[in-house]
Amino acid sequence: MMLKKFILFMSLSLLLVAQPASLQDDDPAQPLLTVRQIMDAIVTPMTTTIWGAYQLQTDAEWLEIEHAALAVIAAGNLMASGGAGDGEQTVANEADWQTYNNQMISAARAVITAVEQKDEEALFAAGNDALYPPCESCHQQYQQQ
Ligand code: HEC
Repeated sequence: MMLKKFILFMSLSLLLVAQPASLQDDDPAQPLLTVRQIMDAIVTPMTTTIWGAYQLQTDAEWLEIEHAALAVIAAGNLMASGGAGDGEQTVANEADWQTYNNQMISAARAVITAVEQKDEEALFAAGNDALYPPCESCHQQYQQQ
């Protein structure tokens, strides 16, 4: 009986030890994702949803746009302290980085306002006139080709 319990305990401990180091060691108060991961996993798919919005009818269709805008805000929240890649926290201290990132966040807020009013023209304007420009400005300055 004791031995069985001991073996079980040991197996569980081994399972814990065998986890990838990144899951154990990373402090979630520090950036966990690189800027590229934030772009690819959050910003790109969510803005594809927002920019693709057209002839929205059901509440669920509008809600999907709101959720996408909230996810862009979450990405901006991460981008404000920079990514986990080399030098990505340093670059996030620059005023221009913060300006472009804040513009992206405000644009996402404008998208949410348009959703609340179910105003597709306002949604279109927020997407094209407000959400797109900060992508371009930030990439021109900070994306290494
Ligand atoms: C505050 C700066 C900033 C803003 C705002 C920003 N990006 Fe980026 N983005 C970057 C940087 C820096 C990279 C380069 C990351 C790398 O290659 O390591 C990048 C890369 C990308 C990439 C290429 C990813 C890859 O796999 O090479 C895409 C796509 C992208 N961004 C989409 C967007 C879109 C769409 C927006 C606007 C809604 C946006 N980004 C807004 C900084 C920004």
